Amino acid sequence: MSDIILGIESSCDDTSAAVIKDGWLLSNVIASQDVHKAYGGVVPELASRAHELNIVPVVSEALSRAGVAASELSAIAFTRGPGLLGSLLVGTSFAKALGISLGIPLVMVNHLQGHLLAGFVKEPGKEVRQLSFPYLCLLVSGGNSQIVKVSSPLEYEILGQTIDDAVGEAFDKCSKMLGLGYPGGPVIDHLAKQGDANRFKFAKPHIPGLDYSFSGIKTSLLYFVRDQIALDPDFMEKNKEDLCASFQKTLIDILMDKLVKAAKQTGIREIAIGGGVSANSGLRARMLEEGAKRGWNVYLPEFKFTTDNAAMIAIAGWYHYLAGERCALDVAPVSRMADF
Ligand code: KG4
Repeated sequence: MSDIILGIESSCDDTSAAVIKDGWLLSNVIASQDVHKAYGGVVPELASRAHELNIVPVVSEALSRAGVAASELSAIAFTRGPGLLGSLLVGTSFAKALGISLGIPLVMVNHLQGHLLAGFVKEPGKEVRQLSFPYLCLLVSGGNSQIVKVSSPLEYEILGQTIDDAVGEAFDKCSKMLGLGYPGGPVIDHLAKQGDANRFKFAKPHIPGLDYSFSGIKTSLLYFVRDQIALDPDFMEKNKEDLCASFQKTLIDILMDKLVKAAKQTGIREIAIGGGVSANSGLRARMLEEGAKRGWNVYLPEFKFTTDNAAMIAIAGWYHYLAGERCALDVAPVSRMADF
């Protein structure tokens, strides 16, 4: 008999539902929240309200696009955390209510594990190209920057992570600081394509081992721009493309230095990226370049699986389901990774 899993994702500002049948994606619906643009960042209270508005239509649409009746579902996989608590509560409570009404089990998923396994979502009519275990995943988003060794769908080990800001946060905060807009990653990525990445130099942090730090570069960009504007008030307007290209290159250099080190230390040549920042065109190009140079098998997720989506939650949930894991109805969401 087939396993049909409904995935629900609501950890931040995207309400998403997906249906997966034996690992094959039947639908993946995402409702993004534009309400945060005016504030230059996600406002947790507004995010929870928008999830509350979106969750029922998004799930209905996912079932209808999949051509699956709710009564055919085998289980519901939902994101338990990490993320914004109010947002997670909406998805968790909805999953519980639907699970009870249908009499089917719930499976809880760590959002980050979803990003790690996004590459295992199979799509009808598309080439199936999956990684083999073990692989290293550079997990880069607005809340995380990690190098993770994935040994099987349910076994993973964090080899290094940021000790302060996430790289997505560095993109977002710096874009806001420079008055370029939100979310900062796509804006900087776009401007960087038209600029000279070697024009300006920013100091890189010296952090031991495989850990990262991105708070220093933010400050060095701030001081640099402040000093330049003191000399020429039009500095930003004249140089924003070069500035974005140079800043983005520095972030990519920092990410890649540690990833190369991790690959050397572990001897692993299967390398993936995941999370919102993995949509960055400079990072994707650099991964392919390093991969060709170092003999890596590089896996770049499709754009639609880089940002938050329920397809990755459904696939991760399916692996938990196959392993016989079920979650109790008194489960509560958790906001921090450490609480998982
Ligand atoms: O994974 P995600 O959708 O949400 C979580 O943080 O969980 O990641 C969002 C982050 C934001 O910081 C956004 O600026 C960044 O991903 N991002 C990008 C790009 N697209 C999204 N960063 C760099 N370049 C991009 N093209």
